[in-house]
Amino acid sequence: MSPSPAQRAEALRRQIDEAGKAYYERDEQLIPDADYDRLVRELEALEQAHPELVQADSPTQRVGGKASSRFAEVRHAVPMLSLGNAFSDDEVQDFVRRIGERLRRDALFFSAEPKLDGLAISLRYEDGRFVQGATRGDGSTGEDVSANLRQIKVIPHTLQGSGWPQVLEVRGEVYMARADFEAYNADARLHEGKVLANPRNAAAGSLRQLDPKLSARRKLSFYAYGTGEVQGGELPPTHSATLAQLKAWGFPVSELCQVVEGSDGLLAYYRDIGERRDGLAFDIDGVVYKLDDRAGQEQMGFVSRAPRWAIAHKFPAQEQTTTVEAIEIQIGRTGAATPVARLHPVAVAGVIVSNATLHNADQIERLDVRVGDTVIVRRAGDVIPEVVSVIAERRPAGTSAWRMPTECPVCGSEIVREEGAAAWRCSGELSCPAQRKEAIAHFASRRAMDIDGLGGKYIETLVDAGIVRGVADLYRLTRDQLLQLKLVLDAESPQALASQIGLHLPPEGSGQYLRDVLALDAGDEGWRARALSLPAAFEWNTKKIATKWADNLIAAIDASRTTTLERLLFALGIEHVGESTAKALAIWFGDLELIRHLPWPLFKRVPDIGGEVAHSLGHFFEQPGNQEAIDALLQVGQVRISDTHPPSAKLRDGLDFAQLLVEAEIPGITRLRAEKLTAMLPDAASVLDAEPVQLVAAGLPNEVALGVAEWLDSNGNGPMLLKADDYRRTLLERAPEASAQAAGPLDGQTVVLTGTLSQMTRDEAKERLEALGAKVAGSVSKKTSFVVAGTDAGSKLTKANELGVEVWDEERLVAFLAR
Ligand code: IVH
Repeated sequence: MSPSPAQRAEALRRQIDEAGKAYYERDEQLIPDADYDRLVRELEALEQAHPELVQADSPTQRVGGKASSRFAEVRHAVPMLSLGNAFSDDEVQDFVRRIGERLRRDALFFSAEPKLDGLAISLRYEDGRFVQGATRGDGSTGEDVSANLRQIKVIPHTLQGSGWPQVLEVRGEVYMARADFEAYNADARLHEGKVLANPRNAAAGSLRQLDPKLSARRKLSFYAYGTGEVQGGELPPTHSATLAQLKAWGFPVSELCQVVEGSDGLLAYYRDIGERRDGLAFDIDGVVYKLDDRAGQEQMGFVSRAPRWAIAHKFPAQEQTTTVEAIEIQIGRTGAATPVARLHPVAVAGVIVSNATLHNADQIERLDVRVGDTVIVRRAGDVIPEVVSVIAERRPAGTSAWRMPTECPVCGSEIVREEGAAAWRCSGELSCPAQRKEAIAHFASRRAMDIDGLGGKYIETLVDAGIVRGVADLYRLTRDQLLQLKLVLDAESPQALASQIGLHLPPEGSGQYLRDVLALDAGDEGWRARALSLPAAFEWNTKKIATKWADNLIAAIDASRTTTLERLLFALGIEHVGESTAKALAIWFGDLELIRHLPWPLFKRVPDIGGEVAHSLGHFFEQPGNQEAIDALLQVGQVRISDTHPPSAKLRDGLDFAQLLVEAEIPGITRLRAEKLTAMLPDAASVLDAEPVQLVAAGLPNEVALGVAEWLDSNGNGPMLLKADDYRRTLLERAPEASAQAAGPLDGQTVVLTGTLSQMTRDEAKERLEALGAKVAGSVSKKTSFVVAGTDAGSKLTKANELGVEVWDEERLVAFLAR
């Protein structure tokens, strides 16, 4: 049975009160603004139809919330009212018609203004000085937030110019610009602070912050849109002139305010601002129309909570509630794993939304979004819809917190979290279809395999056509395929393609064929890829086009087959492995076959490779798909590395088992403890065999021993350590003893670098000098062979001169290295 009007009114009042209290008194949003408006309108309509239901304390009879008791109360001499709302053109026309009829006027002029989404404020000036500022509160009593308002830079402390009334109350909106809001939230995320749902809440929260210093840290702005009490002076006779006067006295007034005529003028203004809405620096939720002349305003008067001479014309709501049906992850072109909420479809600002981004796993944790939850989604302009908050009261029973899956939904590789970062990513760089285009483009780029002429759009189409699935496929491209690619990319339409090059269509109804195969009507750009993958029935007449490009490209692909280890490592696109890391890996290990099988802790033997990079290398090579891609490159692609060499002799330093234990990041294992342990348990096999008691016997504290045992048992760490120990021995076997290595030109020499180098970094210089056998030291002594001094060299240069040590400038170093 449907409820009686009295029951319904009661229920509405309760809901509105609850939401209003939360919103105005605790800066908390229980339901989207649009839902709140709907409830109020329903209650208004109900009370109009059944006047006996109107109660003095009904939400329709007052404005907003009550003043919160933390601040002193301020009584508004002129009440701060609210505005009626219009949601359609009809309602705007009705509004204009009502005024025209009552004032018996044909031409009506309005001040049309943006409706800022912030907090209404009244600023009181006496003799031109700011004396008090207050919130709206319930419309007649607000809160004294003067101290916080003084922190807002654009609010004048003293008025400019002259001619102001002795008492002047200026009314307007305090708001937070979007950029300031984003910056505020970015900072909150970084420092574990409270992330705020929207700029309105941010502005309200800041203004009602008891400590003005805290409030000052959040950047608030203000626009004036009207006046309150005025004594001892006169204001201009129209609203627009008053705004101009306020501006002259030093108040910010929105540039978007305009005087327009009649409902046509108002509606045109509405559309114009609607189109500009997303580009504005601040949030607006509609526009406000005010009859411009004050005499007319006075004649129109007020209804209970709003003036009859003004109305707010709302934009479609950008927030709606819906439920979360699933949380899935999406893998981006660079491998970033982004959680996405699959939603029960809902219309938000005129568009059906069924997916919303959750940004990252931390965001999910912060919001605690769960499958089954009712959430508020927001869609602003072209921005991807996002989940703003969860309505906790509507959570069904039996839900559980969401966890990031461990496998990539696209390629099955491991999803890894970057240390200390909020980002998660798929580690299947080379093998993940989601990352394919990006990976191939990087592989072919100039500083990687340098396949000159193979730009992004070519790769895109080749991948879409299914001709290139992985990097190795680049080495299988034929000249014919490239010619076809060029034709397809240069053609403006499928028809143009067909006619332009005499594409020999299959006999049976070629028009039909074109339509079916190329899906002409699909209206997308995908026809290019479809054309490129046409079955053999199509004969391409490629004779007419220039072939130089294809020849050059084939030559570039061929040339890239013979490459250096450094380039190939960089080309693989391993997260965190840039050119200099690739170079260091090549110098230190010398061999791809070795590198691709090394357990991650051994990468840390290379100076400058820390845990993060070592883990990333380990994850990459652990993915079968990546290994397959490398195999394909070497076998199918016949890629050859020209500079394979034995590992560097320097690897031998510190390559003992104790150091391996330290570098494996085993909880509680310091160098000292590792040494004690290895004195009794000299290799990985014996550590793995040991019971915790034996670990204790070897000198580990109890908890550490238990921690080590637990670590060995988890995440495949035990087998990894065994393998790492094996490879440690392999490295020792393969790396020549320092003396056995062919004498480098700088063997036995100690070099010191100082000052700034312009042609390379100090690290690069160090690496290159070391590669030639030099020891690079940090301080100058009599034993120093020579000092390389860049610009602004300081004390080390002075010392070298004092000691008579040879000094090289950068030019000499570069010339030497070039030799
Ligand atoms: S005029 C008597 N002008 O909207 C007229 N209000 O729903 C009172 N607002 O409380 C308000 N921009 O917080 C007016 N250009 C504008 C406005 C504006 C935003 C807010 C203000 C007010 C609410 C009314």
